[in-house]
Amino acid sequence: MQSQSQRKGIIIAGGIGKRLLPSTYSTNKHLFLLYDKPMIYYPLTTLMLGGIKDILIITLKSSIESYNKLLGDGGKWGINIQYSIQEEPKGIADAILLGEEFVGQSHTVIILGDNIFHGNNLYNLWKISDSFDKGSTIFAYQVSDPERYGVVDIDTNGDVLTIDEKPKIPKSNFAITGLYFYDNSVFDRIRKLNYSSRNELEVTSLNNSYIRDNLLKVELLGRGMSWFDAGTFDSFLDASLYIKTIQSRQGLMIGCPEEVAFRQGWIDRNQVVNLANTLEYSRYGEYLNEILESNK
Ligand code: G1P
Repeated sequence: MQSQSQRKGIIIAGGIGKRLLPSTYSTNKHLFLLYDKPMIYYPLTTLMLGGIKDILIITLKSSIESYNKLLGDGGKWGINIQYSIQEEPKGIADAILLGEEFVGQSHTVIILGDNIFHGNNLYNLWKISDSFDKGSTIFAYQVSDPERYGVVDIDTNGDVLTIDEKPKIPKSNFAITGLYFYDNSVFDRIRKLNYSSRNELEVTSLNNSYIRDNLLKVELLGRGMSWFDAGTFDSFLDASLYIKTIQSRQGLMIGCPEEVAFRQGWIDRNQVVNLANTLEYSRYGEYLNEILESNK
């Protein structure tokens, strides 16, 4: 079994964001401002909360400079961020393949750059990852519009039968979220996949390959969790309003890498002070100072 620190994380932040055109002509959608911070901060902190410090971001060539400006090599947050370029948007599984060298012999945790997870259950989710050893574990969430996602069909014994990508007639209301734990067989499996009708290597085909070998576990995220795929204007707005509502109510930020790094013990008080200084005059900078105040 591998510990979380040995596990490598990959954020898939490629794609041309067709559903968000024309805004995505000039900006990678994962850099859009989701309420008060760039969208990529949310999946990034989800991995960081799981103790993952080695993270590869897969994106288009045109976005690399912006990511470098925003995140750099992750050193300011005590983590290691590397980048890889997906030349053409050929699907999530195609993007994962670009991470083969980075992952080496480790297991890997993949998260989609437009997926936002929030809730106490995140803790349990990372506990599951602790016992993860072989095959794949993925997560399903009950939604009212399953036809927008990969949809899992589970029989009465709880066994996973199949996953259908954006089915016209969904077999259940359980959508597969964009968080996937894979063992090291993932790369060989992807190499055996065929391109779909939209000329992509689909993550759903990859997951079905694990199902065929009886190696896929689907964990249901309970009602206490919130999950958004912010890939359309409406879901983007829903996610933004959710973040605003919870943050205003609690006075706590969701998706703040500085805070997560500090609480994980990866950066110290002085480093947070320096980071806060670079964010002077913003609410975000103020928040970093408040964290230090309340953790004396
Ligand atoms: C992708 C996957 C889909 C999954 C979804 C989760 O869809 O193909 O199976 O349910 O992410 O966010 P996309 O949003 O890229 O269309």
